[in-house]
Amino acid sequence: MSTDDPTVLLISDRDDQSRELGNWIGRVCSCRNIALDEPPARANAVAAVVTDVAFRGAAGIARLRSLLAPYRAAATPIMAVLRDNSHYEQVQAVALGASSVLPATASSVEICRAVAAALGADIPAAPANAAASAAQHAEQARLEFHTIFRAATCGEAFTRAEVENATDAVIEAVADGGIRRWLDIVWTYDNGTYQHCMLVTGLAAEFAKSLGLSANDQERLVRGALLHDLGKAKIPLQILNKQGRLDPAELTIMRTHPGIGHEILCGQGSYEPEILEVVLRHHELLDGSGYPDGLSGSQIGDLVRLTTICDIYAALIERRPYKQPMPPTRAFDILHDMGGKLEAALVRAFTRVAESSAAPAAA
Ligand SMILES: [Fe+2]
Ligand SMILES: [Fe+2]
Repeated sequence: MSTDDPTVLLISDRDDQSRELGNWIGRVCSCRNIALDEPPARANAVAAVVTDVAFRGAAGIARLRSLLAPYRAAATPIMAVLRDNSHYEQVQAVALGASSVLPATASSVEICRAVAAALGADIPAAPANAAASAAQHAEQARLEFHTIFRAATCGEAFTRAEVENATDAVIEAVADGGIRRWLDIVWTYDNGTYQHCMLVTGLAAEFAKSLGLSANDQERLVRGALLHDLGKAKIPLQILNKQGRLDPAELTIMRTHPGIGHEILCGQGSYEPEILEVVLRHHELLDGSGYPDGLSGSQIGDLVRLTTICDIYAALIERRPYKQPMPPTRAFDILHDMGGKLEAALVRAFTRVAESSAAPAAA
C-alpha cells in the first residue's frame, strides 16, 4: 500500500483497541488504531475517523472532543459507533461532531462498508472467495482451540490472546461463509469434542449476529461458547468418546465437567464473571432439572441461556460415524418441545439460526 493511500484513524477505548474492526477496515485502506490517551495523527494524513468509544465520564468525553478537534476543523468524515442506541449516546455523538452515527448493533463488516462508502473506496464485501476465507478462518480457529484444549488437558497455561484469536476466527468464518458453511466444515472433524465445541461456538456467533448484539456482547457470547466444555479436557477419553449411553457411574463423572472447566478457567487468569458462569452453568435448565446445582429461573444468567440453546442444538446435529445425522429441522423441533427448560422467546429467536443452518451453503 503506498503512502498516498487514505488512512482511517480508529479511536477506541476497548481493551483490544477494536482489533477485529481495525482488521476489517484494513481491507479497505490503511487503518491506525489509537487509544484515547494517545496522540492524534496529523489531520491531513487522515481520510476518515471512526470512534468506538463509550460516551461516559466527563474526562473521557473531553479527551475525545479534543482528539477530534483537528479533524472537525478539516471537515474529515467522523463516524461514531454507538455503544448502545440510547438517545443520550446519539446526542453525544452529534455534539462531538460525528458526521455519521452507526448503531451499536452494526457489525464490523457493516461499519467497514460505511467507511468504504465514505472514502468512495471499493466495498470489500464479502469476499469473493468467501468459501476459502471461511475455511482459512475455520482452520485458524481449530488450531487455536487445539492449543487451548491441549493445555487444559495437560494442566498447562493458555493465554487470553489464544482465546480471543480463536473467538475472532470463528466470528470471521461465520461472517464470511455463513453458518451453514461453518457447519459443513466442522462436521468433518473426527474429534467429537472439538466438533461439538466448534459447532456451539459457530452457532453462538450466528445467534449473536441475528439478535443484533453489539460487537462486544457478540465476542463475550462466542468466547463463553468456545470455553463452555473446557472441563471435558479432564474427562477420561473412554467416557468422553463412548458410543452409546453412559452408565450411571460414567454419567456422574461426565457431569463433573462444568465444575472442572470453571476451576481450570479460574486458574488461567482473569475472565469475565459471565464467561465463568457459562462454563459452570451451561447444563442448568430454567425448570430446575439441570446440573450441577439444579438452579432455576432468574438464577440462570442471559449468556448461559443463549449458550445452552446453542449447546443442545449442536449436540443434536453433531455428526459421528456411528450414528445417523439428525436434520437441523428435526433438531429445532426437539429444542422447541423442551418447554419450560429453555427461555421460549430465545428459542423462537433461534429459529433464524436453525433455518440458516438447514439451508445449503451458498456456492
Ligand atoms: Fe457441557
Ligand atoms: Fe457442550
